[in-house]
Amino acid sequence: MRPLKMIAEMSKATVHMKDPEHLEQILESIKDSGPNTLQVISDFDMTLTRFAYNGKRCPTSHNVLDNSKLISKTCQAEMKNLLNTYYPIEIDSTRSIEEKLPLMVEWWTKVHNLLIEQKIRKDQLTAVVKESNVILREGYQLFFHHLHELDIPLLIFSAGVGDVLEEVIRQAGVLHPNVKVFSNYMDFDESGVLHDFKGELIHVYNKREGALLNTQHFQEIQSRHNVMLLGDSLGDLTMADGVQDLQNILKIGYLNDKANTHEHLHKGMHTYKCRYPFSHYFSHPAVEERKQSYLDSYDIVLERDESMDVPNAILQYIT
Ligand code: TMP
Ligand code: MG
Repeated sequence: MRPLKMIAEMSKATVHMKDPEHLEQILESIKDSGPNTLQVISDFDMTLTRFAYNGKRCPTSHNVLDNSKLISKTCQAEMKNLLNTYYPIEIDSTRSIEEKLPLMVEWWTKVHNLLIEQKIRKDQLTAVVKESNVILREGYQLFFHHLHELDIPLLIFSAGVGDVLEEVIRQAGVLHPNVKVFSNYMDFDESGVLHDFKGELIHVYNKREGALLNTQHFQEIQSRHNVMLLGDSLGDLTMADGVQDLQNILKIGYLNDKANTHEHLHKGMHTYKCRYPFSHYFSHPAVEERKQSYLDSYDIVLERDESMDVPNAILQYIT
């Protein structure tokens, strides 16, 4: 039987594909090569975590901090303004990535500087994550456990905050030894207070550079020429650029769209409801344009799907 017919989850209404035949070839080829040749590379925010729950937006790893008691009200307002300014640019399909690049660096730099000003303490992060509304997608246990059992490396490549996302995964009980994270990690001084971010900044559109800087990791797993890539942004497509002698890549993209409103992304956002630019953005035809660009670049597009059902079913099939 054809692979797509054998994977029941592929007939879910949330699944879209531009070229099913090509996808079937990739699936068969990876399956034939066996699990020892596979590695998984995934984005974190809004890919491994839920985009919305009960109609409310879920936080990104940055938002976990923004919404917390560690941040002053003024700083919270500044972060919210930055998000309102730059997030529509991040997902604007009418602008080129070259045009977005300097603006993303500007956004991340401003946010990191604001966070540094807040004198966040390392020992506060566990509680802040516990109190947050961040949720891993439904079926995450199966995903993490399956990869662990088969000893398949999982690289989480995130433009979020490494310390926060690692804590999310730890608290969910799935930070297994096969999981490796590339992200923006906080640098704490001797007294445990945030004073900088480590290494090169990772934002949504420079993951290629990040991958090429971390050659060591890819060398360690150089016999794994097949990749399953999971993302929610077009910037996530370059996460596998550090893989040597890539044979097959299966790209699964979450198209997180048309959440009812975005007023819950930040606490107190409802007061801005009417003037908030997201509500205009999401009723804009650009959403359909985004779908087309996702279909052109991801093998499978999952539209408003809050689960890991499809990646899990595919992993079951190919391994
Ligand atoms: P990701 O690479 O793990 O998906 O993380 C990047 C996301 O983080 C991106 O979609 C934008 C989001 N973000 C915030 O929510 N708040 C911020 O302050 C910044 C800089 C990014
Ligand atoms: Mg993301």
